[in-house]
Amino acid sequence: MMSIRSLAGACLSAFAALSAFAVPASAQNYPTRTITMIVPFAAGGPTDVISRIVTAHMAQTLGQSIVIENVVGAGGTTATTRAARAANDGYTLVTGHMGTHAASVPLYPKLAYHPEKDFEPVALLAGTPILILARKDFPPKDLKEFVAYVKTNAEKVNAAHAGIGSVSHASCELLNSILDVKPVGVPFNGTGPAMNALVAGQVDYMCDQIVNAVPQINAGTIKAYAVATPERNPSLPNVPTTAEAGLPAFQAQAWNAIFAPKGTSPAIIATLNAAAIKALDEDNVRKRLLELGSVIPAPANRTPEALATLVKNEIAKWTPVLKPAT
Ligand code: MLT
Repeated sequence: MMSIRSLAGACLSAFAALSAFAVPASAQNYPTRTITMIVPFAAGGPTDVISRIVTAHMAQTLGQSIVIENVVGAGGTTATTRAARAANDGYTLVTGHMGTHAASVPLYPKLAYHPEKDFEPVALLAGTPILILARKDFPPKDLKEFVAYVKTNAEKVNAAHAGIGSVSHASCELLNSILDVKPVGVPFNGTGPAMNALVAGQVDYMCDQIVNAVPQINAGTIKAYAVATPERNPSLPNVPTTAEAGLPAFQAQAWNAIFAPKGTSPAIIATLNAAAIKALDEDNVRKRLLELGSVIPAPANRTPEALATLVKNEIAKWTPVLKPAT
């Protein structure tokens, strides 16, 4: 005969087990209104382009509009802070990346958020190999000449980026530390505007995500010295790798991913993750991402758990590279 105490205990544990599966009504029929996707950089840059390609399809799946809100400043940390403080109801999301959710940690000692503690990872969208780019009339013909020229003219050359802690800033910090040079940094609100300046010949060089560079390289309006990945990229078969071009030490690939504020319900995260995965499996979305040089995540890398692991690993990777020598 079960005692009253053990019967009560059994009822409590049954209730706890059931309540764990109880999905709040707000999550059961999510989404019921427009979703805002914050993009921490100006329109036209890589983070904006990837976000628009993927969310356009996600909106179809979810049956609600997804509005892109470009919020700029401080290398993407202004927008990411806003996203961290947003309501965790699934209606405010952010496209973060290797800059906002890794490189910014060592570069901003007083960063107003922590990528792991203040966000729920939703889905990895695209890997974005980094290229070394220059204005069309920059004197060096190839990467070997680029290295020599930048070392010789260290005080005169300048490098464009999208703000301290952005991908374009962090990856060129790595390049510049390998070359032991400190060019003048020229910040923009995104590498969309930065690319316009490069095409106009107003800045000398830039480390940028491939999705922003492919159209300009194919149009012949800028120079591409190399891609910083072990293999050439299918969208740019004539651009050598850094290893082929004589600088194997410079390896850099960024990534873009969707994050939600901490505490967003697992049911909503699952709904968003499923919609993102569906987009990445859709032919037209894949075609557009691939022709811009994106690396579409393998299925095993598309889970929220895999993204959480990526963020942890990327913070560990970039902190020693970027932390000012103490
Ligand atoms: C960056 O981190 O450099 C940004 O992704 C550039 C951009 O998207 O505009």
